[in-house]
Amino acid sequence: TIQMFMKMFYGCGTPAVKPNTNRVVNGEDAVPHSWPWQISLQVKHGSRFHHTCGGTLIGPRWVLTAGHCIWPGDVYRVVLGEHDMSQQEGTEQIRDVLRIVVHPLWDIDHVGDGPIMNDSVGPACLPEAEEILAHRTPCYIRLGAFLVSAHGPMPDKLQQALLPVVEYSVCSRSDWWGINVKQTMICAGGDVGDSGGPLNCMGQDGRWYVQGVTSFVSSRTCNEVKKPTVFTRTSAFTDWLSEVSESILKLFFI
Ligand SMILES: *[C@@H]1O[C@H](CO)[C@@H](O)[C@H](O)[C@H]1NC(C)=O
Repeated sequence: TIQMFMKMFYGCGTPAVKPNTNRVVNGEDAVPHSWPWQISLQVKHGSRFHHTCGGTLIGPRWVLTAGHCIWPGDVYRVVLGEHDMSQQEGTEQIRDVLRIVVHPLWDIDHVGDGPIMNDSVGPACLPEAEEILAHRTPCYIRLGAFLVSAHGPMPDKLQQALLPVVEYSVCSRSDWWGINVKQTMICAGGDVGDSGGPLNCMGQDGRWYVQGVTSFVSSRTCNEVKKPTVFTRTSAFTDWLSEVSESILKLFFI
């Protein structure tokens, strides 16, 4: 499977620089390059590119992001290996987007030339199909753009926050998200993630998995009671994803 392949050949989900996994719930600066699969999806306005969404490197040439991050006709690029957006750190790699594959429920970008995997750029692992995380499983997100509009400027440096999983039976209660949350989604915490960015959860094998793609948040406030952040659940689409990125396997096993 694509999951096995990514573990064997790309050591997915095992960052060279370990992230800080203490239990700080509010935002804190992430250890630089400790989430090497986190990418910045940037859209071209005039002659410049601007950060529009987060995303996840899931294969040598594939990036996963949210459907609402993509507008037909816009020109995108992917920046990998970034920690401080306000500075050239020498670890950044910039790639054009060659192809965008749209699922009715989500999108995936194909990065034109694969990035070079090293200590600041590496993929996360995809979960097994239909894997469901237990209530309160600790996961992490990158704090992002959404926080920004409500609470001042976007932090230049990558920040992270701990978000415990909220199981479907709780998240879908009528006084929580109700019918807005579908079985194909996963809820976590109450903080505000970077749109399109990953919900990073450590598996029992010690690897980091992208268990969700930021989908929607409460528009009212951060940390609103009973309104956790809602993610598209990656494991609901593992089979489709494997099909789309099958070219990775074909490339290596012809
Ligand atoms: C990783 O590769 C990029 C592109 O070649 C390079 O700029 C960077 O210095 C390398 N090493 C690290 C630790 O980022």
